[in-house]
Amino acid sequence: MKDYGKITATPVTTFVGAVISDVDLSTTLDDQTIAEIHDVLMERHVVFFRDQAITPQQHADFARRFGPLRKARRAAFEVLDDVSEMQVLINDRERPPNVNHYHSDGIFRTNPEFGSILLGVEVPIAGGDTIFTSLAAAYDGLSDGMKEYLAGLSAVNDFMKLHGSPAKTRSWKGDNFARMDAMRQDNPPVEHPLVKVHPVTGRKHLYLSESFTTHVIGVDLEESQRVLDFLFRHVAKPEYQCRFAWQRHSMAFWDNRAALHYAVADYWPAVRRMNRVTIVTDEIGTPAVTTLSKPA
Ligand code: OGA
Ligand code: MN
Repeated sequence: MKDYGKITATPVTTFVGAVISDVDLSTTLDDQTIAEIHDVLMERHVVFFRDQAITPQQHADFARRFGPLRKARRAAFEVLDDVSEMQVLINDRERPPNVNHYHSDGIFRTNPEFGSILLGVEVPIAGGDTIFTSLAAAYDGLSDGMKEYLAGLSAVNDFMKLHGSPAKTRSWKGDNFARMDAMRQDNPPVEHPLVKVHPVTGRKHLYLSESFTTHVIGVDLEESQRVLDFLFRHVAKPEYQCRFAWQRHSMAFWDNRAALHYAVADYWPAVRRMNRVTIVTDEIGTPAVTTLSKPA
């Protein structure tokens, strides 16, 4: 447990996650508290809060302290009518859970979003946890030879790898087809490096997602598939993870640059309803002074 002055942060596992207590998100927090939450987020990749009975507007207002929010579009997820940045992830008997895949929000975009903040609105009695993986710890856990091999390699990330798959068939039904098609057209396959330097912490981390990363550029397809298979399994090791059990009014705030997440789909046909906003850019983080990317 670390006392930051305004807040208390308790680590969840060795490499990832912290529970922040002593904070009431229904109030307007002072700048130091916001900065401390951001500090913990940078160190732990995901922070959790309990018992935050806040309105969608308060949820969005809190998120906006860290950077501009993405306006929500109705496509794979629903949108809350009166708060235009709020997406609703709803699962029930007719809509079985289908976010049980490791991903980073927006990895299929040219400019992926920095952060996501998810609030439990209605959660099942058991099940429906979310798993978070540290892409920094996963990188650190690679051999020197593998780190050397991956340096400088990029991979293609494609919205349609996931959203064109059978798991997402229902997204394309009826009048949602046009919305999904617009998302597809706005997000053609994009290249991202497989290893990135975090702009705030200066740490190196992997950047890939089984759901969206299709192939490594500049290597034979067979080699690409073997390398990606290895990396997909590597980032899924429990040693790099924490697992969050939701309660109503629990909140998770994660850094998409440093963590993957996976929504465990073990609660159908129970209802699970979550509200989410995404923060486009990190306006609090000061870019780290780093020599990591410069030649020795
Ligand atoms: C998300 C997401 C995970 C969950 O909000 O981006 O993937 O546990 N949700 O609902
Ligand atoms: Mn997600």
